[in-house]
Amino acid sequence: GRPADLAGRHLVISAGGTREAIDPVRFIGNRSSGLQGYALARTAVARGAEVTLVSANVALPDPAGATVVRVESAAELRAAVLDAVEGADAVVMAAAVADFRPLAQSGSKIKKTSAEPDPIHLVKNPDILAELGDRRREGLKPYPPVIVGFAAETDDVLANGQAKLARKGCDLLVVNQVGAGLAFGTPDNAAVVLVAGGEPVEIPRGPKEDLADMVWDLVAHRLR
Ligand code: C5P
Repeated sequence: GRPADLAGRHLVISAGGTREAIDPVRFIGNRSSGLQGYALARTAVARGAEVTLVSANVALPDPAGATVVRVESAAELRAAVLDAVEGADAVVMAAAVADFRPLAQSGSKIKKTSAEPDPIHLVKNPDILAELGDRRREGLKPYPPVIVGFAAETDDVLANGQAKLARKGCDLLVVNQVGAGLAFGTPDNAAVVLVAGGEPVEIPRGPKEDLADMVWDLVAHRLR
């Protein structure tokens, strides 16, 4: 069994991947399955935490005992996370949030015509993780005391990860090496957790539950 070391803690987890609408039937999305975020939610509940799971487009059963808030776009995810972190102890941003969205959404389905289609003009989405770090730095509520991000990197994993940890102002950054049958849509994950003001923690390839438990070990330690 797991320790009840997160009893009395309120944890917010984002999971899945956002969809940015082009028109009522089309979107720009990503391949995130939500498996890692849902594993984080299940393990946190098992360790006694109160969990709010902000879920973006995930086709998995609701984790028993968690409060699930469904969102579609990055803007909706941002609003739901900011709402949920009020009074929370930690946030773990496991969701793949779209960096860009179409500037305009067509109110009706874009028609196929004989002419070439219009290009889709993209604009930047807010970086929610960085915003939480900025809020904490500025003492601007709401922000949680512990902030955890995820990052998928293909090369220079450590150097890129350390720069991202600092840039986003988080306590922990779970850096996944993507490719080689790992990460997206697979039951296994391997990662290195970068720790602000500490040594990196190497997490060997294994079930996403094991990675989740190791993240909670580090979060519980920082909450103590
Ligand atoms: O910069 P990058 O997308 O690699 O950062 C990934 C981390 O930042 C994840 O924790 C993700 O949830 C978060 N993120 C965010 N808002 C964005 C993009 C990413 O919170 N617009």
